[in-house]
Amino acid sequence: MKDRMFCKVLSNVEIAKDIHKLEIERIDGFGEIKPGQFLHIKCGGEGLLLRRPISISYIEKDRIGLIIRRAGKGTKLLCDKKVGETLDVLGPLGNGFSIDDEVEKVIVIGGGIGTAPLLELVKSLKGKDIAVLLGYRDEPYLVDDFEQWVKGVKVATEDGSFGYKGYVTDLLEEEIKNNRVDIIYACGPEIMLKKVQDICNRYKKKSQLSIEERMACGVGACLVCTCKVKAEEKGVKYVRTCKDGPVFWGDEVMFHE
Ligand SMILES: Cc1cc2nc3c(=O)[nH]c(=O)nc-3n(C[C@H](O)[C@H](O)[C@H](O)COP(=O)(O)OP(=O)(O)OC[C@H]3O[C@@H](n4cnc5c(N)ncnc54)[C@H](O)[C@@H]3O)c2cc1C
Ligand code: FES
Repeated sequence: MKDRMFCKVLSNVEIAKDIHKLEIERIDGFGEIKPGQFLHIKCGGEGLLLRRPISISYIEKDRIGLIIRRAGKGTKLLCDKKVGETLDVLGPLGNGFSIDDEVEKVIVIGGGIGTAPLLELVKSLKGKDIAVLLGYRDEPYLVDDFEQWVKGVKVATEDGSFGYKGYVTDLLEEEIKNNRVDIIYACGPEIMLKKVQDICNRYKKKSQLSIEERMACGVGACLVCTCKVKAEEKGVKYVRTCKDGPVFWGDEVMFHE
C-alpha cells in the first residue's frame, strides 16, 4: 500500500482554455517514477471523497508537472489550487510504459489531455529516433514542451486551426506507411486508441496503449476499474487498470463494445 504524501503546489498556470499546468513538490517519498504512472489526488471539497487519477506529465529534480483538464467537480478544484496550498497524493501508481533498449524507431501519439504523460516518456526515450504526433480538438498545448526534446513534432487539430486538419491517427498511418517503426506508444481518448490499435493490427506493429477507466481506490483493492484483456487460455481475463495498467500491450486490450 502506498503512503499518503503531502506536497505543496509550486505553480499553477492555465496553458490553454481549461487546461492547467500544476507543478508540485517532488518529495523523497515518491521514490523512482516511471513514465506513464499517475498520482491519485484528493481534490478537497464537500462530498468529494474519491481521489482523482492524474498522470505524471514530467519530472524535474525538485518538482512534478501535472497537466489537468477542468472536466468536472474534482478537476475543477485541482485547477483552482493556489500556489502554497498542499495536495494530498498517493503515488506513483500504475505500471507505466516499458522501454526496450533494443527498440530504435518509435512513434509517440497523444490525443487531448492524453498528451500529458507522453512528455516524460519522450524524455526517457532520449537517443532513439522518435516521431511525436499530437492531436487536439482545437487549441493545442504542450507542443513547445515536446519540441524541446524532439524536433518536428506533428500536430493535428479537428477544426484545422493548427497543423493538419483532421485526426492525429491519419498522421499515424502516414508515418507507419512511409517509415520503419518498431513500436508505437499512445495515450488519449478511447476512440483514438481504438484507431491506433486498428492501424497497428493492419500494419503488424507493436504498441503500448495507456487507457482510462474510472477509478476509486487506485491501488488494486476495489475492482472499480476492471477492463477486459485477451488471455492465452480462456481467451479473456479481467485486469485492474490502476494496478495492472494503465499501460497495456495494444494487441491485448479489448475495448468496450
Ligand atoms: C490513469 C489515468 C490518468 C489520467 N490522467 C489525467 C491527466 O493527466 N490530466 C487530466 O486532466 N485528467 C486525467 N485523467 C482523467 C481524470 O482522472 C478525470 O477527468 C477525472 O477523474 C474526472 O473527475 P472530475 O471530478 O473532474 O469529473 P466528474 O465530475 O467525475 O466527471 C466529469 C466528466 O469526466 C468524465 N470522467 C470521469 N472520470 C473519468 C476517467 N477516469 N476517464 C475519463 N473520463 C472521466 C465523466 O464521465 C464526466 O463526463 C486520467 C485518468 C486516468 C484513469
Ligand atoms: S480503482 Fe480500485 S481496483 Fe482499481
